Amino acid sequence: MLNLVLFGPPGSGKGTQSEKIIEKYGLVHLSTGDILRGELANKTELGLKAKEIMDKGELVSDEIVIGMIRNKIKANKDANGFIFDGFPRTVAQAEALDNLLDEYNEEITLMISLEVEREELVKRLLKRGEETGRADDNLETIENRISVYEKQTSPVKEYYKSQGKAHLVDGIGSIDEIFDKVADQIEMVK
Ligand code: AP5
Ligand code: MG
Repeated sequence: MLNLVLFGPPGSGKGTQSEKIIEKYGLVHLSTGDILRGELANKTELGLKAKEIMDKGELVSDEIVIGMIRNKIKANKDANGFIFDGFPRTVAQAEALDNLLDEYNEEITLMISLEVEREELVKRLLKRGEETGRADDNLETIENRISVYEKQTSPVKEYYKSQGKAHLVDGIGSIDEIFDKVADQIEMVK
């Protein structure tokens, strides 16, 4: 299996690059943000509970998101591999993911961190907010999402660095240029 963590702050292009990676490498896409928004669209208890937290730009509990990922891995045991997008977001989630994969004798192959500075993130997300109306793409929530990333999520980068698995990619430029750099990293470990 090729198991890729696509890492980066809100608006860095995780979802955008995931689509292109899936097209080329046929991996199963696991985005905890997309799963939570799907729950909300279906008005499940979980979705309604998560909405309040997501609207503030805070993190949903580790227990909930780890449970979601556990179910998805189990349901896709025969996949070529997974792209984890927006997960893990805390060191506890990263440790839980290692343990989950270990149950299948699998591991994370590599982590790609999309490097984009704050000003560009805000610009992209405000634009998307105007275009699509995604509820958490407003200035106040965007600022908090970035702060939460810096405080709670950035240590995950160190976690993968210490395992020698973190690869930093410049996330500024055209979507295709960035994808070429991402694909180069994947080719090196494939
Ligand atoms: P989540 O859905 O994961 O959102 P996020 O991390 O804030 O990131 P985005 O999805 O906004 O950005 P992205 O990096 O995917 O960029 P994209 O490709 O869309 O999480 C939402 C919420 O759910 C969290 O705040 C939290 O509450 C909860 N949650 C989710 N996972 C969780 C977890 N594991 N633990 C706890 N809570 C969790 O691109 C952004 C925009 O930029 C798009 O409009 C795109 O078209 C554009 N763009 C992309 N690339 C480029 C480029 N190269 N140049 C110009 N524009 C570009
Ligand atoms: Mg996304």
